[in-house]
Amino acid sequence: MDGVHLKKPSYKLVDGHRVPMGFPETGFRSARDYEPEAGDIFVATYPKCGTTWVQYIVYMLVHRGRELAETERLDAVFPHLEEVGRRTVEALKSPRLIKTHWPVSLTPMAEAARYIVVARNPFDCAVSFYHHTRGFPQHYDFADGSFAAFFECFIAGEVDSDDYFDHLLGWLEQARRKNVLWLTYEDLRADTRAGVVRIGRFLGGAAADTAADEALLERVLAETGFEGMRRAQQRWSSRRAEGAPPFVRRGVVGDWRSLFTSAQARRLAARFDERTRGTLAASLWPDVLAAARNC
Ligand code: A3P
Repeated sequence: MDGVHLKKPSYKLVDGHRVPMGFPETGFRSARDYEPEAGDIFVATYPKCGTTWVQYIVYMLVHRGRELAETERLDAVFPHLEEVGRRTVEALKSPRLIKTHWPVSLTPMAEAARYIVVARNPFDCAVSFYHHTRGFPQHYDFADGSFAAFFECFIAGEVDSDDYFDHLLGWLEQARRKNVLWLTYEDLRADTRAGVVRIGRFLGGAAADTAADEALLERVLAETGFEGMRRAQQRWSSRRAEGAPPFVRRGVVGDWRSLFTSAQARRLAARFDERTRGTLAASLWPDVLAAARNC
């Protein structure tokens, strides 16, 4: 392998945590002191697990089917807490819509706030995260990086937002709380309609009865569906590198097979088994895990 192949992504270290290079340290630090107010709605995910998709579903349900115009940006109305910091989030109108990739141990928790957690199998997450990391050279300086190099960082937990398994296990422990809704990307993909109805019921208020409002439900499904979100992608992210795949990229379950070697699949499956043994997470994604173990 040559040097380019082995090159790792670059990060900024803030208090021991890897963050994208363009994120201000002040945002990360002040976010730790954010005090949720009653009614806050967090979308809490590890990166690349369906954050933007669920954010947009939540946004549309809270705003009774309002779409984002091509000139609007989701992060202006649904900001990323540890990127923008406490003050920007405090300035939002109620209910505040807040994105975070923090593990539960860092996330500001409050009984009166609600948390929608979306998890995705680590195999597809790793592939999606690799494309993401290549696509933002201003944050990672990794436009020419290899999957082999990224995989080693991912499995070691040495990427932004830290370790996948710490995030998964910490949030899964919260799943039984009344103010936490636990979703998986795969379930949402398999039955998006049921997922949107569940999210609406969890949000309550005007969104509680989404199932009864067929016109609203259809509008949300069309606009937040994969094809709907492929349109006008400047709504979701800053500019991607020339030639990098778009932010809303493939949106499927099983894309890990496009990049994983058999050895990598078996290693990540072994790590999954080791980290989840004896926890509720051990029974997640049985088909993906079985395929990876037998690779
Ligand atoms: P892929 O890279 O596997 O395609 P996040 O928002 O957490 O960064 O997650 C991004 C992933 O969610 C990407 O996965 C993206 O394509 C997928 N995604 C975004 N919008 C989607 C939608 N409406 N339906 C299905 N997947 C979607």
